[in-house]
Amino acid sequence: MSDPDELLRIEGIRKTFPGVVALDGVDFDLRRGEVHVLLGENGAGKSTLIKMLSGAHTPDAGRILVGGEETRIHGAQDSERLGIATIYQEFNLVPDLTVAENIFLGRQPRRFGMIDRKRMETDAEVLLKRVGVDVSPRARVRELGIARLQMVEIAKALSLHARVLIMDEPTAVLTSEEVDKLFAIVRSLREDGVGIVFITHHLEEIAALGDRVTVIRDGRSVGQVPATTPEDELVRLMVGRSIEQQYPRERADKGAALLTVEGLTRDGVFHDVGFEVHAGEVVGIAGLVGAGRTEVVRAVFGADPYDKGAVKVAGTALKRHDVNAAMAAGIGLIPEDRKGQGLVLDASVEENLGLVTLRGATRAGLVDLKGQREAAARIAGQLGVRMAGLGQHVRTLSGGNQQKVVIGKWLLADTRVLILDEPTRGIDVGAKVEIYQLINELTAAGAAVLMISSDLPEVLGMSDRVLVMAQGRIAGELAADEATQDAVMALAVSTPTTEVEAPRGR
Ligand SMILES: Nc1ncnc2c1ncn2[C@@H]1O[C@H](COP(=O)(O)OP(=O)(O)OP(=O)(O)O)[C@@H](O)[C@H]1O
Ligand SMILES: [Mg+2]
Repeated sequence: MSDPDELLRIEGIRKTFPGVVALDGVDFDLRRGEVHVLLGENGAGKSTLIKMLSGAHTPDAGRILVGGEETRIHGAQDSERLGIATIYQEFNLVPDLTVAENIFLGRQPRRFGMIDRKRMETDAEVLLKRVGVDVSPRARVRELGIARLQMVEIAKALSLHARVLIMDEPTAVLTSEEVDKLFAIVRSLREDGVGIVFITHHLEEIAALGDRVTVIRDGRSVGQVPATTPEDELVRLMVGRSIEQQYPRERADKGAALLTVEGLTRDGVFHDVGFEVHAGEVVGIAGLVGAGRTEVVRAVFGADPYDKGAVKVAGTALKRHDVNAAMAAGIGLIPEDRKGQGLVLDASVEENLGLVTLRGATRAGLVDLKGQREAAARIAGQLGVRMAGLGQHVRTLSGGNQQKVVIGKWLLADTRVLILDEPTRGIDVGAKVEIYQLINELTAAGAAVLMISSDLPEVLGMSDRVLVMAQGRIAGELAADEATQDAVMALAVSTPTTEVEAPRGR
């Protein structure tokens, strides 16, 4: 007898890729009107599992039952026909088409045999309104920021009237207001009886949204627990040990100013931004999305131009808009959009890790390949990059492991001033701690670290000093002991003028 509330069931699924057992026996089931969270470390097999349901991969062994019936899902059309919609970790939209065209790709409404643009755009507008995003159906997807892309993906899934909605790390790129919106949508879908598979590395989201949790470790389902399970217990199930201290910041001796930014202005983008980062220091930059944080650090790194001001490393002014000059002076930037800016997807882990150092080494006329390989192996081990070997192509690494490679690349590069833009996005709780340890090592060795993060506990937990940006300006500065969530948020929503608010006690 099949249970009418059971939407799908997975039994003993296995999947092997060359050199990797990605899934080694996973059981999972989804019921009507529930949010079922998939939890696991980077590379545990979460994305691979949901790709069995979206038709992107077929299992080597095991069974998939949809509505009580054993089913084979070959390709996206099978999946769609079964009422399954998937929002991938890697977006799946076509950049040069409009928002409306993307939402209705392959299913455009027709009138007299022609695509009914008008209807398509009004329908899209209704869907976009429902997800609460302010974007024109006629905008090109290429022009959208990452959060809006996410919302368009959700609008698209809604248009499919799916009974099963799969979301692979949907909140990784969203701000807290956007997360609230997303949760409201997910809750209303759940009310309507939709079953939702939800992947996240943000543990606090589990109790807030989830009903049940399936924990996957090394390709196996190792437990199924209610979403009310305490976080430390979830961590233990997931990584196999408990984590004592999530933010293990060890203060280093503060040395001379390594990075000095003075009056940096890019008309219409950021204005009169000035700050210093000293050797041994971790300075956090908090702020709402759109406050101009990424734009400022890109200008500091020379990736974008600026109109006024100066950037100095150890007192020496850098040439404007010149990445090579910045790198030669010892600045490294781990970008927010790692996929687009940080990696060569069809090169190996080793090649990617060597990208920055190799450039320096060849310029000096010597390439120490053996040393390079050893260094790559060491950093990959330290960060726990899950891979078949250093020769594996980065494209086939899990999302979080790709991020570890970008971070590892810059950690290897002997930077004096390391700028991290959202460094732990998509990184599991255990691996985050490893990254924080490496930040400690860097500052202990005298480097200066500038860290943008929208994860407030992370900024507060790891920074020695916090700069808060709002509307393209620095709204204020908080010492570690006065930086609370409330203090940061108050500055983040303020309207700063040219005068920088003087830090307290000075
Ligand atoms: N096409 C592929 N070829 C080779 N290996 C692959 C391929 N796809 C996935 N893998 C491997 O399968 C394992 C599981 O990856 P998966 O993407 O499912 O992890 P994940 O749990 O989603 O991790 P994350 O939290 O980092 O997104 C990883 O070791 C990954 O390198
Ligand atoms: Mg994944």
